[in-house]
Amino acid sequence: MERIYLDNAATTKPYQEVLDTMSSWVTNNYGNPMSIYSEGRVARNSIDEARELISDVLGCEFSELIFTGSGTEAANLAIIGLALQNEEKRRDTIFFNSTEHECVLNTKHILTKLGYKIQLIPVTKAGLVDLDWLNSNICDNVLLVSTMHANNETGVVNNINSISEIGETMGVIHHVDAVQTFLNPIDNGSLWNVNSVRAHLINVSAHKIHGPKGVGALYIRRGIKLKSFVSGGEQERSLRAGTENTAAITGFAKAVQISHDNYLDFYENKKIAKKVFWDQLKKHSPVDIEETVPKDEVQVLGGHLHLRFKGVSAESLLILMDRAGISASSGSACGAGSMETSHVLKAMGLSQEFAKETIRFTFGSDTPKEKAIVAADKLIEILIRFK
Ligand SMILES: Cc1ncc(COP(=O)(O)O)c(C=O)c1O
Repeated sequence: MERIYLDNAATTKPYQEVLDTMSSWVTNNYGNPMSIYSEGRVARNSIDEARELISDVLGCEFSELIFTGSGTEAANLAIIGLALQNEEKRRDTIFFNSTEHECVLNTKHILTKLGYKIQLIPVTKAGLVDLDWLNSNICDNVLLVSTMHANNETGVVNNINSISEIGETMGVIHHVDAVQTFLNPIDNGSLWNVNSVRAHLINVSAHKIHGPKGVGALYIRRGIKLKSFVSGGEQERSLRAGTENTAAITGFAKAVQISHDNYLDFYENKKIAKKVFWDQLKKHSPVDIEETVPKDEVQVLGGHLHLRFKGVSAESLLILMDRAGISASSGSACGAGSMETSHVLKAMGLSQEFAKETIRFTFGSDTPKEKAIVAADKLIEILIRFK
C-alpha cells in the first residue's frame, strides 16, 4: 500500500539532491574541518559555503549564523546562552509565549535554577500572542521575550514585529523560533528575512525543509552576546563546541537552496493539496467537521489544516488512518497512559473534549493533489463507521 504522508510539520522527506550532497561528505571527504591540511580545508570550505548560502537567504551576515545540532539546540543556545551571559541579573525575568514548542518551554527548568522568573504570555482564542497583556506587563526587569513565528500545531502566524516593538520600548531581547516559517511563505507568498523580522535571535531547522535531521542554525544579531553551555573546542565561534557535521551542514544548505529557488511553486503546491483535501472532506464527510482556528481572524501557514471531527475520537481516527496508509497527528498526546490535551489548544481555551477530537494535517511541497484527494476519500470511508 502506498502511504500518504500528511505530517510535514513534524518532518519532511529529504530531497534526493540533499542525500546526494551528503553522501560524498560521509564517504570520501571525511576530513575534520578544524584540520589545517588539505582534507580539513576542503571540509572547512564546504561549511563556509553553506554558511554563506544560508546567511544570504536569511539576509544576515556570515558571522551572524551559528550551526547547531538541531532547531531545539539552537533555541536552547539563544535562551540559555543569553541567560548565562547576563550574570549580573539586573534583568531577572523571562517571558515565554504559552504556545511555544517544548524546545523553549522546557528551558524553564534550567532558567529557574539560574535564578530567573518565568512568565507565560497568554494567547488569544485564535492562538495569537496577547499583545495587550504584553504591553501591560513588559518592564525593564525583562531580559528576554521568546515567541514563535508560527505555531507548529495550528500554523497560526504571530505578528512578530508588533511583539519586537513592544519589547524595544524596554530594551528587551526578542528570540523567535522560526522553525515552521523558514522558507515557508507567510503573508500570501512572501518569505521573511532578518530585515523583515526584527528579532535579535532566530532559530531554524533543516528537516522541516526537506533537509537532514540533526542540524539547525541560530541567527545572532551582531552585538548580542551569548555564553555557550557546551565546553570544548572553538568550533562555531566557540558557541557550539564539537566537530562540525559536514554532511548535515552541506545537506542543510542544499535543502535551503532548493527550497529558496522554488518557494512559490512549493507554496502553491501545499495550498492546492490542502484545498482539494478540505473541499472533498467538506462535501462528503458524514460527520460534522470544523476548523480549529478561526481562519478569517488570523493568518495560517499554507500547508496547515487543523480540524475537529465532532463526536469522533482523534486517537481512534489516527489509528484507522494509519492502517489505511495515511499519516497525520492529533491535538492530544499520549502521556502516562492517558490522552493529554496539547498545551497549545489548552492555552487557546479549548476544552479537553474538543482537543481529543482534533487532528493536524500538514501538506508538503511534495504532496500531489491526487494523493490529497485519495486521502480525503479514505478518511470519508473511515468516518462512515463513526456515524
Ligand atoms: C516550532 C518548532 N520549534 C522547534 C522544533 C524543533 O526542531 P528540531 O526537531 O530540529 O529540534 C520544532 C520541531 O518540531 C518545531 O516545530
